[in-house]
Formats: sequence, structure tokens, C-alpha cells
Amino acid sequence: MEIQPSDRIRDLETGIFSELARRKHAAKQAGRDIIDLSVGSPDLPPPPIVMETLAREAQDPRNYGYTLAAIPGFAEAVAHFYHTRYGVDLDPAREVIQLMGSQDGLAHLAMALINPGDIVFVPDPGYPIYEAGVRIAGGVPYPLPLQADHGFLPDLDAIPPDVARRARMLILSYPGNPVTALADEAFFERAVAFARNYELLVVHDFAYSELVFDGVRAPSFLSVPGAKEVGIEFNSLSKTFNMAGCRIGYVCGHPGALAALMALKSHIDYGVFAPIQRAAIAALTADPTPLTEQVHIYERRRDALVEALDEAGWRIDRPQATMFAWARIPDGFTSREFSFSLLEATGVAVTPGDAFGQRGEGFVRIALVQPEQRLREAARRIGDFLRHHAR
Ligand SMILES: Cc1ncc(COP(=O)(O)O)c(C=O)c1O
Repeated sequence: MEIQPSDRIRDLETGIFSELARRKHAAKQAGRDIIDLSVGSPDLPPPPIVMETLAREAQDPRNYGYTLAAIPGFAEAVAHFYHTRYGVDLDPAREVIQLMGSQDGLAHLAMALINPGDIVFVPDPGYPIYEAGVRIAGGVPYPLPLQADHGFLPDLDAIPPDVARRARMLILSYPGNPVTALADEAFFERAVAFARNYELLVVHDFAYSELVFDGVRAPSFLSVPGAKEVGIEFNSLSKTFNMAGCRIGYVCGHPGALAALMALKSHIDYGVFAPIQRAAIAALTADPTPLTEQVHIYERRRDALVEALDEAGWRIDRPQATMFAWARIPDGFTSREFSFSLLEATGVAVTPGDAFGQRGEGFVRIALVQPEQRLREAARRIGDFLRHHAR
């Protein structure tokens, strides 16, 4: 018997990362030394307090039952973190829910909040689950172009009012992935006004809230007046505390939106492993000094990559934030041609930009997830590749 996937699944593009994994494997088999700058999985260790707490709690046999939801103290730890880092006051009882990584919430949100046919504004280019989550829920993603001449912010005034009236959510992410730009409070205020006007929910993904360079701090969307009445913000321990494999994150803001998501989740999962939750509480309430040290590590990597690529003959924009460079590729390649032939010829893996939407064509995303000296080596190999493949 042949099993057919549902129409819903057939409509989703197969993940680029499986395709890249296949090609990385082939390049390795062919003897290439792989420098993997394609996946945004942090290579740095979590803070020692996280590993100590996890190891200790994992020894307690009482910690192996279902947790169902956040254990006492988690929402308070998030509220503490939001107060001290972003000046946002949250009610732990109503304005915070725990997630199995922010991906869990981003993937399920549309299912909890929209009906088939509803429009959702998604950034283009944008992190793929925004659009996929809407499609899975039967919604209609409406891409908003992020363009350099508009500071990579969507032009809300350019959205036709009849479309905005049929929209239920506006998804934003600053600093974002793959576009690493920042938004200021003024833009967030415009988003609040837009949401009020059209009665839609603003969904801000703040996964890279703590990876901002050159002494700059990114504002939380929830820090602008009125934001909590129209919006929610996703955040994660994956990048801030290098806990990506632990699968823990959270969403805060509008209690009604959170309650709908929680109702759906109560049918889907039974909570995060208690030792991971305790490790997360330890991370969120610890001395934040290591966060600044971590920013310096990524800053040095960014500088190493940008400067080495410059020497190799490829000038790219210096990212202001996140663990990525979003680089316009030299003329004569599509994103996929560039990424796949670079991998085959040099072992350097980068992600083709079209994986993030139509407007990602002409770009690749380079993840700063290797030490400086490996990034320089990658740039040197890219330089050789460009010389041999100049079109
Ligand atoms: C912009 C963005 N949002 C959300 C996520 C999901 O992170 P997690 O589910 O680990 O919290 C990622 C992961 O790379 C991301 O880049």
C-alpha cells in the first residue's frame, strides 16, 4: 500500500537543511574537510550553572514524571529576566507560558489563533516556520518584503487596507534570522498602531535578543506602550544560553493569545523535562556578565569573517546582531548554485537565501558557529572558489 502525505504536508517545501545534510555527507565522503556554517546551532557551551543544575537534578528519580507545563518558579524567572534585561514587567501567572523551544510555539500559534483562509503577514525573507505554521493551519501567508532601502523593516503603509482588514497576525523578528537588522521603538510603536487599527495580533520573535553587537541593546517589542494589549513576544534559551538541544523557550504578552496557545498545547505535549526547567531557571536568574562575554566572542567572529572575506575579494555587510551574516552573493549565481557548488568545491557549507523566501534569492546566510580561525579558513577557501568560478 502506498501512503500519501496529506495535502497540507505536500504543500510544504522540504527543508533545505535535509538537502544540505545530504550534500555535506557526499562532500565528506569525497574527502572534503567540511566547515559547516549552514545551521544556526550554537557551538559555545552553556553557562556552568546550567550543566551543574541539569546533572544534579537528573540524579533525582522524582524528576522523571510528566511536568505538563512550567514548574513553579519558571514564569517568575522569565519575569525577572524581562524586568532586568528589557525593562518589561510581566505578570508570571497570566503573561508567560513555557514552550519546548520557541519553535514549538511558532509552529502551533496559527493553529491556535487563526481560521482557514485568514491572512497572516510574514517577513520575506524570514525564518521558515513563520510561513509554514500559517500554511499548516490553513491560513494564507502574505509576505512583506524586507528591503535594505527601508532598513529591512516592512512598509506597513504600503499594505492595501482591504488586505490588512482580513489579516489576523503580523509576524516580526528584530534582530532577525536571516536578516540581522534591528528595529527601534518608533517602528514598534507604528506596529502597535497598525495592530490596533486593523485588530490583529503582533507576534514578535526575539530569539536573538541577547546577541547584539557594538554596545547596542535591542528593545523588546513589549517595552513600547500598548504592546501587551496587541502583541506577544517569543524568546528562547537556545541562543542566549546555548541550550538549543534542551528544547526550552517561552512566549510572553497578551494573556488571551497565550491562553489559546496553551489550550492547544495541552493536547499536544506534556511539558519539558523538569531538570531542564530547573537549569533554565538557573540560567535566567544568574549573573548576566557571561552574556556580554558571549557577545564579544560573536563580535570577534563577525569581524574575522567580514575582514577575511574582504581580503578574499567579497565585500559583505557587517551584521549588527545575531549569529549570522546575510550576504549578497556575487553576480552570476543563484543562491542554490552558489551554496551547492561552494560546498562541493571547498567543503564550506552556507545556506542558500531562497530557503527564507522569494526575496532571499541572491543571498546566502553564513552562520558564525565556528572559531575565528575556521571562519578565516572558510573565507580563504571562498576566495579561491570565487577566483575559479568568476562568471
Ligand atoms: C529566528 C528564530 N526563531 C526561533 C528559532 C527557534 O529556536 P528554538 O526553538 O530553539 O527556541 C530559531 C532557531 O534557529 C530562530 O533562528
